[in-house]
Amino acid sequence: MAKRIAVIPGDGIGPEVIAAGMRILERLNDARGLGLEFVHFGWNADQYLRTGISMPPGAMDDIRNNYAAVYLGAFGDPRVPDMKHAADILLGMRFQLDLYVNYRPVKLLHDALCPLKGKNRQHVDFVIFRENTEGAYVGMGGNFKKGTAEEIAVQEDVSTRKGVERIIRYAFEFAKARGRKSVCMSDKNNVMRFGGDLWLRTFKEVARGYPEIEHFHMFVDALTMQMVRAPEMFDVIVTNNMFGDIVTDLGAALQGGLGMAASGNIHPGRVSLFEPIHGSAPKYAGKDVSNPIGAILTAGMMLEYLGHSAEAAMIERAVVGAIEAGETTKDIGGNVGTKAAGEAVLQRLNLKA
Ligand SMILES: NC(=O)c1ccc[n+]([C@@H]2O[C@H](COP(=O)([O-])OP(=O)(O)OC[C@H]3O[C@@H](n4cnc5c(N)ncnc54)[C@H](O)[C@@H]3O)[C@@H](O)[C@H]2O)c1
Repeated sequence: MAKRIAVIPGDGIGPEVIAAGMRILERLNDARGLGLEFVHFGWNADQYLRTGISMPPGAMDDIRNNYAAVYLGAFGDPRVPDMKHAADILLGMRFQLDLYVNYRPVKLLHDALCPLKGKNRQHVDFVIFRENTEGAYVGMGGNFKKGTAEEIAVQEDVSTRKGVERIIRYAFEFAKARGRKSVCMSDKNNVMRFGGDLWLRTFKEVARGYPEIEHFHMFVDALTMQMVRAPEMFDVIVTNNMFGDIVTDLGAALQGGLGMAASGNIHPGRVSLFEPIHGSAPKYAGKDVSNPIGAILTAGMMLEYLGHSAEAAMIERAVVGAIEAGETTKDIGGNVGTKAAGEAVLQRLNLKA
């Protein structure tokens, strides 16, 4: 039976970069008999502004029960300042589908894209796992005496034993499966004592089950410094929702910029969501200038999750070929548009017509 993929281009540059990724996915699906069926959903700011509905009733259950994966562009539109539709759809899926692993590889594909002096592909090749369902993102808290000079705002940062343990265990399992040497857990337990204590205790306990893998702890401020100074010291990093959100943008910069980075929102064995890490970059929307490589590598990551590792590797090789030929968008030094940059990758898949 065909595996269904929900395709949600979203807002801003989302539709352009997802179109580039889809050309590659459809081509591989046909040429290599992957048995994927793509179903497109037009949930975005336009639809929300027109109808007041971000996702139709029953849609989340439909995705949960009838799809193998979701391929998503980005959300965010200046006409929806409270981001209601984005919260309903993207955060909605992360939470309601319990996509607890945020998987963000930081892999430099070409030396010329590295912003660090004296570093190259050998130095920048690690993976960040961000906890994706808890932390400061659960929306707990409130305002007291709002709008007055005495206003108080409280934002809770929630960590559960179950949530912390499963993301840490996933990081170790990943390291074991991929032959990675070490796992670094990063937090700020010198200040955030209660949550930090839970993270550190759990990390040490889980690590005992993986004696062959080195483990170490680093405060998140030190982590940001070391990612720049000595990125080669990292194999696998695991951290909470907020710190992960922040340090993965730094990771993207080490790879050549936001346009280059892919991510997966995963619940192992269940429907999972794959998206480039960049947002909707409204100022570039419809201009054929945005870099499609993040979305294309995301398509590869999704194929890998679905068991098609050979095709994922083909995509990465084709991306490297396009970068080497300089057939890329301006943000990484080329001079072609989004569509042409996507085609440059497509041609290098070396598939027979
Ligand atoms: N997962 C998501 O859907 C997601 C993630 C981040 C931001 N957002 C939303 O996107 C909107 C814009 O946010 P932002 O400006 O902070 O972040 P952004 O990632 O959209 O853009 C920041 C800057 O990064 C560069 N950039 C991003 N993607 C690029 C690409 N593919 N090619 C070339 N350059 C690229 C551009 O210079 C852009 O101005 C906001 O509404 C925000 O909330 C959504």
